[in-house]
Formats: sequence, structure tokens, C-alpha cells
Amino acid sequence: MNHFEYRRNLLHAEDIPVSRIAKEVGTPVYVYAEATLRRHYEVFSKAFASHYTAGRASICYAMKANSNQAVIATFARLGAGADVVSEGELRRALAAGIPGERIVFSGVGKTRREMAAALDAGIAQFNIESLPELEQLNEVALAMGRRARISLRVNPDVDARTHAKIATGKKENKFGIAWSHSLDAYRRAAAMEGVEPVSVDLHIGSQLTDLEPFRLAFTKIGGLIETLRDEGIDIRHVDLGGGLGIPYAGEEPPHPDDYARMIQQTLGHLGCDITLEPGRLLVGNAGILLTTVIYVKEGEDKDFVIVDAAMNDLIRPTLYEAHHEIVPLWRAEDTAPRRPVDIVGPVCETGDYLAVNRPMPKLSAGDILAVCSAGAYGAVLSSTYNSRPLVPEVMVRGGHYAVIRPRQSIEDLIAMDVLPPWLKSG
Ligand code: LLP
Repeated sequence: MNHFEYRRNLLHAEDIPVSRIAKEVGTPVYVYAEATLRRHYEVFSKAFASHYTAGRASICYAMKANSNQAVIATFARLGAGADVVSEGELRRALAAGIPGERIVFSGVGKTRREMAAALDAGIAQFNIESLPELEQLNEVALAMGRRARISLRVNPDVDARTHAKIATGKKENKFGIAWSHSLDAYRRAAAMEGVEPVSVDLHIGSQLTDLEPFRLAFTKIGGLIETLRDEGIDIRHVDLGGGLGIPYAGEEPPHPDDYARMIQQTLGHLGCDITLEPGRLLVGNAGILLTTVIYVKEGEDKDFVIVDAAMNDLIRPTLYEAHHEIVPLWRAEDTAPRRPVDIVGPVCETGDYLAVNRPMPKLSAGDILAVCSAGAYGAVLSSTYNSRPLVPEVMVRGGHYAVIRPRQSIEDLIAMDVLPPWLKSG
């Protein structure tokens, strides 16, 4: 459910006609509905409060999905923690008011500097993905006179049945410690002075629309926890990653209630506290990207609708063959004829499209379109390719909106470059 709907045939974000935002802020622009962010967080946290009774459940928002300060601060006020993957994300989470003790640090390549910053911030847990990383964290913590709480991210070798570029739980993926090495890695960690293994971690992929891969992986993890306990490594906590999918094109992903029930069934007997790292689920359907039609070009076989947003603003269609619904701001009659068109941007790449062969009502220059479900992995993955400035982001709350990131200016873009001395004068 989200808060973008037609009222009197005009698309609204909560109580605001989005055409007003397009007019006042310009396009392209990302628009987020605060009520949807809150609702998704509440549905998810209630699911665990009601159905996971074996221990405490902490929700650490995977802020890579959308790291705007306003989005993180919205979740911080609801009590969320954060899953971070870089010093930049760590500092953004702290700046938005998420306390260190609610932060977990994931990712395969944490540097010494990042480890030290996270130890300084007193984070809850490092999710460690290799033996060299384990050894380095041990050294950094010892040098600082600290003991780092850790989880080993293990790779359960399970097929998440999602797009290959966002599947992370198979042994051929770079993520996690190989399943057959995991017991030994825990033994090594348990013998180190600078780290304390408190948890097991996994994340098998993103945009999963089926519970079975999760169930398989979580069952494996449960077995590992039992083996570790038998060895005297007393694991009382498990981090289950993120990955629960959202409907982009009529998919019916499991409800968080069913996800929480399945976790209770597969892991409840262990009595662990759990950490969850949802990203897309919290923000995906809370955002849209508004874009204006610049030209409609007739081709021999099909027409091209050329819009002012491009692959640099939303790369998901071309990178993951992702489907985003695209709707006009004025609702077209259900009976209006629709023709398949390619909706493309101005960037000089064949892969620059938002939709291919998409049945659309008749469109003309000046029409504004909303690209739906763009709140996750939209703005954060944007770039300035073709010297196109980063687009603004807006958050709506009820009948008000605020610009939460202004449009980058071309002057700012140019000012990021520095001429070497030999090109400066003359
Ligand atoms: N935890 C870890 C360790 C992760 O690597 C990720 C996502 C998450 C949690 C959150 O997953 P989510 O709940 O959002 O599925 N750019 C891609 C998605 C990349 C996901 C990377 N890791 C896309 O646009 O589909």
C-alpha cells in the first residue's frame, strides 16, 4: 500500500497534487510520501512484535536503499537502527540521529579507517565477511583497547531466485564466508582477544518474492548455531539481512506477517534475538520519479517517448531489467487506446530507457509522467553522466512538502573539478 493515488483523476502524493510539485520544483524530481515510509515501518515492526516471540527483534534500515537524511531521520524517530556499508553511511546514520548502538556494519571491504570510526561510534556489531577482514578488525580493536562485537556473515549457498545481479547467497557470489569454512572461522574468532563473536549473519539477496529460499537459508543457519553452541560458542543473536520484495508489476510478495511467522517457525526454538535489515521494503513504494515528456518521435516500428529523466537518474530498468509502472499525472480513461512505446531519456546510450514496449495512452510533449516504486535504489544510484546534475528530492507530509535535496546546479557540477596549475593561467 502507498499514498500515491488519483483523486478526481489527478495523481496525488498524500494530499498534494504532484503536478504542483512538478511545477514548483521542476522535473525530473523524486517525491517521497512520509506516510508510506511510516506505514511500512510500522507494518514490519508490528509483524515481528506479534509473530516473533522467541526474542527481541531489531530493525536496522538498510540505508543503501535511500540514504537521504530526511528518510533516515524519519525512521530514526520511529526507533529504527541502521545497516551501514561505508564510513559515509555510518556518518549519515549518526547525523540523522541513529545511535551507534543501533548500527550494524555490513560489506565485504571494510577498511581500517572505517573499522576505527565504527568502533569509536560504539556500533552494535560488525558483520565480517572473510578471515583477512576478521584478522584486521582484531588488530584494529586491540590497538584501540577495544573488543568488537561481531557476527560472521556466512554464505549458505542458497538460490534466492531473484535477478542474478542482486542474488548474494550462492557460493559463486563474493559475499560471506564459504559455508564449509564457517565453523572454523568461528573457532578462530573465538580465540581472538579483540573480537567477540555474538551473532551469525546472512543476506541471500534482494527483491525475493517467495519465502522458500529464506526458509532454506534460515534453517541452515539454525543448524550452524546449534553446532556452535555445542562447541561452547554461545550464539544468542542472529542477523537475517534484508531482501523481502515489493510489488513492482503485480507480484505478490509475502506479507511481513508471514515472513515473521516463518522465522519464528525456523529459528524460534533457539531463543535468539534477531536483527533485520530491510531496505527496499521500507522505501521502495514510498517514492516516485516525475519526468516530463520532451518529444514524441515516431519510428518505423514503434514510437519513442523521450523524457527528461534518464538512466543516470534511475538506472534500475537498464541495470536489472527492472519494471517500474509509469503513469500519467492525469488518469487516462480505462477505455483510452494504448500503444506500446519505448520511454527513453536523453542520454547517449542504447541502454538509456525507463521502459521498453510499454503500452501507454497517447502522450504529447509537456505531459508529465510518474515512474512508480522508485523510492529504493533510485536517487542513491544516480550519477551525473552526460553532465546532467543530480535531481532534487522532495518529501510530502499530508498537505505539505519540503525539498529534502535541492537540484544540483551546473555551476556546482563544474566547480567539483580542479584545473591543474599548468592549465590555470593564460
Ligand atoms: N543487508 C545487506 C547486507 C544488503 O547487502 C542489502 C542489499 C540489504 C540488507 C537490503 O536489501 P533489501 O531489503 O533492500 O532487498 N540496487 C539493487 C539492490 C541491491 C541490494 C544490495 N544489498 C536494486 O535496485 O534492485
